Amino acid sequence: MGASMMEQVRSSNLWTVAGVLPRADRSLALTWWTVLILRGLLPAIFVVTMGALVGAVQRRADLTTPLALFGSVFVLLQILPPIHRALGANLGSRTAAWLYDQLTAACVRPPGMGHLENPKLTTDLTVARDFDLAITGPPMSISMDFIAGGLVEIVGGLASAIVLAGYKWWAPVVLTGAWIATHWLLRESTVWRDRNTEEVRHAQRHADYAYRLAVEPPAAKELRLFGLADWIVDRFRLRRRQLFDLRWEATRLRERPLVWSILLVLAANIVVFWSMGAAAFDGHLPLARLVTFASAAIGTSMIAFGGLSWVLDGTAAPIAAVLRLEANMEQEGALTRSYESAEGMPAREIRFRNVTFAYPHTNEPVLADFDLAIPAGSSLAIVGQNGAGKTTIAKLLCRLYDPQQGAIEVDGVDIRTLDIDGWRSRVTAVFQDFIRFELSLRENVAPAGAPDDVILQALDEAGAAHLADLNTVLARGYPNGTDLSGGQWQRIALARALCAVRLGAGLVLLDEPTAQLDVRGEAEIFGRILAATRHVTTILISHRFSTVRHADRICVLDKGKVVELGTHHELMAAGGRYKTMFELQASRFYEEAEEEGTPLDALD
Ligand SMILES: Nc1ncnc2c1ncn2[C@@H]1O[C@H](COP(=O)(O)OP(=O)(O)O)[C@@H](O)[C@H]1O
Ligand SMILES: [Mg+2]
Repeated sequence: MGASMMEQVRSSNLWTVAGVLPRADRSLALTWWTVLILRGLLPAIFVVTMGALVGAVQRRADLTTPLALFGSVFVLLQILPPIHRALGANLGSRTAAWLYDQLTAACVRPPGMGHLENPKLTTDLTVARDFDLAITGPPMSISMDFIAGGLVEIVGGLASAIVLAGYKWWAPVVLTGAWIATHWLLRESTVWRDRNTEEVRHAQRHADYAYRLAVEPPAAKELRLFGLADWIVDRFRLRRRQLFDLRWEATRLRERPLVWSILLVLAANIVVFWSMGAAAFDGHLPLARLVTFASAAIGTSMIAFGGLSWVLDGTAAPIAAVLRLEANMEQEGALTRSYESAEGMPAREIRFRNVTFAYPHTNEPVLADFDLAIPAGSSLAIVGQNGAGKTTIAKLLCRLYDPQQGAIEVDGVDIRTLDIDGWRSRVTAVFQDFIRFELSLRENVAPAGAPDDVILQALDEAGAAHLADLNTVLARGYPNGTDLSGGQWQRIALARALCAVRLGAGLVLLDEPTAQLDVRGEAEIFGRILAATRHVTTILISHRFSTVRHADRICVLDKGKVVELGTHHELMAAGGRYKTMFELQASRFYEEAEEEGTPLDALD
């Protein structure tokens, strides 16, 4: 019983909100609570000083002290709320900032990626991500004032009840009992708890997505070309409408409990006031005390159910989401931690040993009992159709995931036993969906910094010399900003990898780095890359068979299996899939070249 009550308190909205405030700023939170209690006590003190003043007037006594007290309390009642509001706004902003810090850290810190791909967590992330932008509720700097107001009332109501005990012990019991009952009777109307049901969060996610499609650049081309302006506006309206309807449904006051509440409160007040009236009429209750106790009885009503429950709910939901994400993301994105040095690796060989891997939350393995050895210092091309598992191999080598069975070994060491940051510093990659930083060309090539001459050499090797000045921002909408074509961006991404090679990386993964170039452009770039990375281990991924002939070895991948492996000449001689595909694709390429008058041997 005790434990379950503790559970309830812990999961309550007030606990959630109150628990997070001191973590954002301990002394500010303490000050805020102190002023809150003081504000709560003031109305009760006020009715007591008022009674004292009336009594002094009646007794024709000296009014100086009662008037001074009465006046001081009155002044405090006036000046504390704005001070408290300022404190609350500050504390709210700090808390929001703290939560954002927690959230960004929770997203970025885990070494794995599982936490960003789990649908459960990504839905929570939608709720949490923009919580303070006033899209779905007021920002914390403002809701703190509502929370303060609500809590001041509760404290005030309880303090009034204590004053009322000076009249009769049962009077505050009857009144607080009735007012507290309203919380219980009307609790269903507070159930914005439903705001976190799967249904509501889905509605929010859809509304959010429609909104982003409308306001952000990536969809701009399609929205116009396909005439989708009205479609997206209607869709956003509809989704938002659905979201509000669902919340309204959960928030609506239930009629019957409302009637019960009114009757109960009415009866309790009639009993108390009737008793007071009778006592005053019989002369047992002097006017001064009647004024105090009647005011205290009215003050007790501040305990009533109302705005506090609502605002707490709205504020607690995103806080709870952030805290939940913090815990779950760490777990979902975790990889086993190890500390063996990856210095100088790979020096001998990279080996996939009977690796079986399926993505989290899927059943079909992408690689099953996969075996492949790559001698250090050589280049390997992996070719295969879309979905063969090429990108997955690259991701596993970066240790973004761990295989379920088997192991990836570097120089005979399972990479799971290597210090992960150390290993990743040995690897560089151009991913298929590489990042395009909205930053200067210099930062795009070397986000963590590198000497300018290294950056310029890397750009040159990637065939991107003279694309732009190193200080040019590679995005429109900035002073001197410029946008690049898909192919130009790919050269920048390549330069980033080649720059990392110059800074010491030992394994280069290039996942379709030139898919946006034509066959000839790809062949040319592959030639440049292989020359620039001759001293390191290079894995070159392509879905084209006609462009990788200069790699030391070529691996043909099909449905997660190595179906052919060897040099270009060996595979041509073997007359299998590679030969067929090469001839099919290369013949077009050579015909084109002949038409344009390029001597054939220049293409070798
Ligand atoms: N993050 C992911 N979660 C679940 N399945 C994935 C994920 N990424 C890829 N897959 C699936 O794994 C298979 C292999 O994908 P991938 O390695 O990207 O192929 P390729 O790069 O050869 O085109 C595909 O069937 C794809 O749908
Ligand atoms: Mg791929």
